[in-house]
Amino acid sequence: MNLLIMGPPGAGKGTQAEVLVKELKITHISTGDMFRNAIKEGTEMGKKAKEYMDAGQLVPDEVVIGMVKDRLAKPDCQNGFLLDGFPRTVEQAKALDETLASLNIKLDGVINIVVPLDKLMVRLTGRRVCKECGASYHVVFNPPKVEGKCNSCGGELYQRSDDNEESVSTRLKAYEEKTQPLIDYYQAKGLLLNINGDQEISKVLADILAAVKK
Ligand code: AP5
Ligand code: MG
Ligand code: ZN
Repeated sequence: MNLLIMGPPGAGKGTQAEVLVKELKITHISTGDMFRNAIKEGTEMGKKAKEYMDAGQLVPDEVVIGMVKDRLAKPDCQNGFLLDGFPRTVEQAKALDETLASLNIKLDGVINIVVPLDKLMVRLTGRRVCKECGASYHVVFNPPKVEGKCNSCGGELYQRSDDNEESVSTRLKAYEEKTQPLIDYYQAKGLLLNINGDQEISKVLADILAAVKK
C-alpha cells in the first residue's frame, strides 16, 4: 500500500505513522526526520535545512524534491510506503506525481488528519521526542512510562528546537498558505481520507486503519 499522511504541524502524523507502518508492513518516509538526521550527521544539506527549520519555514522545494526522489527509488519502498510531511506545496505534489509515474507506482490514499488549529500550540510545545528512534511523546497527552525515557527503546527524550511558540506560529502560517491547498488537490483526485485527529490517539489509529482498508 502506498500512502501519504498529511495535516498541520502537531496533527499527529508522526505518532500515527510509527504504528501504521508496523501494522501495514510498509516503509515510513518522513522528510522532517530525514532533515533532522542530516543535521545530526552534519552534512551540507543538514546545515542549510536547519536554518529554515528552526525559523519554522519550509525548506526550498528543489532540496526536498531531490531528496524524496532518491528515497522512493530505494528497494525498501517497493513493497509500500507512508510518506509523512511530503508533499507540502503544490509544486512538491506535482513532482511526486511525476516521480511515481516514472517508477510505475500508484498512490492508494491520502490520510488527512484534521485538528482545530487552536489545539496545536499546546501539543507542540509539550512534545518530547526520542533522540534514538524519533518516537513522539507529550508531557500531558502521551507521557512516557519513565520520565525522560522512550518506551520502545529507552532513548533519552528531548524537545525539538522548532517546538517553541515563535517557530510554531510560523509553521502554522506556512501550513495554511502552502500546504492546505493540497487538500483540494487530492480531493479532486478522489484520494482524500479525512480523519478526525481531535480524539484519543488509539481512536485516531482505528479510524485510519478502517479508512485505508476500505
Ligand atoms: P516535520 O518534522 O514534518 O514537522 P511538522 O509538519 O511541523 O509536523 P510535526 O512533526 O511537528 O507534527 P506531527 O503531525 O508529526 O505530530 P506528532 O505526531 O509528533 O517538519 C519539520 C520541518 O522540516 C518543517 O517545518 C520544514 O522546515 C522542514 N520540512 C519537512 N518536510 C518538508 C517539506 N516537504 N517541504 C519543505 N520543508 C519541509 O504529535 C505532536 C504532539 O501531539 C506530540 O506531543 C504527540 O504526543 C501529541 N499528540 C499526537 N496525537 C495526539 C492526539 N490524538 N491527542 C493529543 N495529543 C496528541
Ligand atoms: Mg512529525
Ligand atoms: Zn526511542
